[in-house]
Amino acid sequence: MAIEIIGTGRAVPSRRVSNDDLAARIDTSDEWIRSHTGIGNRHIADDHTATSDLALEAAKNALAMAAGFSGGSGSEEWNRVVAEAAQSIDVIILGTATPDYVGTPSTACIVQHKLGAKQALAMDISAGCTGFVYGLEVATGLLSLGRGRKRALVIGAELLSRVIDWEDRGTCVLFGDGAGAVVLEVNDAPSEGPERRGLVRSMLWADGSGSESLLFRRGGSRNPFKPGETIEKGICVEMNGQEVYNFAVKAVTDTANALMQADGIGVDDITWIIPHQANARIVQAAARRLKMPAEKIYLNIEEYANTSAASIPIALDELNRNGKIKKGDLILTIGFGGGLTYGGNIIVW
Ligand code: UT7
Repeated sequence: MAIEIIGTGRAVPSRRVSNDDLAARIDTSDEWIRSHTGIGNRHIADDHTATSDLALEAAKNALAMAAGFSGGSGSEEWNRVVAEAAQSIDVIILGTATPDYVGTPSTACIVQHKLGAKQALAMDISAGCTGFVYGLEVATGLLSLGRGRKRALVIGAELLSRVIDWEDRGTCVLFGDGAGAVVLEVNDAPSEGPERRGLVRSMLWADGSGSESLLFRRGGSRNPFKPGETIEKGICVEMNGQEVYNFAVKAVTDTANALMQADGIGVDDITWIIPHQANARIVQAAARRLKMPAEKIYLNIEEYANTSAASIPIALDELNRNGKIKKGDLILTIGFGGGLTYGGNIIVW
C-alpha cells in the first residue's frame, strides 16, 4: 500500500508588492532585502480575503488535478468536477499560523464546509512554517489506519500580511500571503523496494525551548486583550531573527542528514529538495554543509517571500505544473519554524 500525491494546487493573491514599493514607505532598500534574504517581491491579499479563501482556492485546484481535469479553472465543468472530487475526501488537514479565527472554528472546518466535503474530518495544525510537513505525516498516519479512509487533502495556507507590524522593517519585508494544497490517495503501489511510491518517510521534531524566538505574543490565554484596553497594534508576529537563523541552518542540515541516513540514500539519489522558503541564505548555508548541488534545491522566495506553512506546497505545485517532476523522482521537503518545529518528508513521485 502506498500513499501518493495525485493532485497539487496553489493560490497566490494577484497584488504583487516589490522591495522598492516597501522602500518607498519604510527605511529599507531592495539591495538590503535581496542581499540578506533573496526576497524580491511578495503577494499581498486584499482586505476582504481570509486564510480560508486562499486555502479553498488552492484545494480546488488540487482537487481538479486529482480528478484529471485539464481545462482552465472557474468554468461550470471545473466547478462540477471539483465538487464531485470533494465528496471523495476523508481527511482535511490545514497547517497555518494565521487561522481565520483564534481557537475555534478551525480554518480546515471552514474549507470543509465550502468544499462540501461532507464525509471529511477536518482540523488545523499549529506547527508554524513546518505545518505542511507535519500535515503530510498526520494525514498519512490517518490514511494508514484504514477505517475506510482513502483520500486526504493537506493544505498550507497563510495570510501573514494581516499579522505584520508594517512599521517594523526587521519583519515586514520578510513575509507574504499564499496557499498550497495536495490530494493524497491510498493505492496498491508498493511503499518499499525499488518501485516504491508516495510518501515513504517523515521525520519530525520540536524544540519548545525556542518558543519565544518566533511568536504572536498577544491575544491568546497567556496575554489576552483586556476589556477597555487601548491597543496600538493588532496581533503582530515577533521574531528574534538571529536566533531563528542559527536554528534554521542546523534544522535544514540535520533534517536532510537524518532522512538520508534513515532511508539509506545519498545526495545523488535526490531529484529535488524543497525547503521552507524563509531566507535563501539559510538554504545556501545548509547546502554548503550538506555538499548539496544548488541546482537540486528549489527556491522561489524571490517571487513570494516567506509564506510560512504555504511555502512548500506552493513550490511543489509550481514544480509539478511546470513539468519538472517525473515519475520515480525523489523529493525531500524540509520545514522549520515557529514552535520551534522542524522536520521533513521523503516523497517518491
Ligand atoms: O519562517 C520562519 C523562520 N524564519 C526565519 O528563518 C528567519 C531567520 N532569520 C533571518 O532570516 C535573518 O536573521 C533576517 C533576514 C531576519 C535578518 O538578517 P540579519 O543579517 O540577521 O540582519 P540583522 O537582524 O542582524 O540586522 C543587521 C542590520 C541592523 O542594522 P545595524 O544594527 O547593524 O545598524 C538592522 O537594523 O540590518 C538592519 N536591518 C535592515 N536594514 C534595512 C534589519 N532589517 C532591515 C531592513 N532594511 N529591512
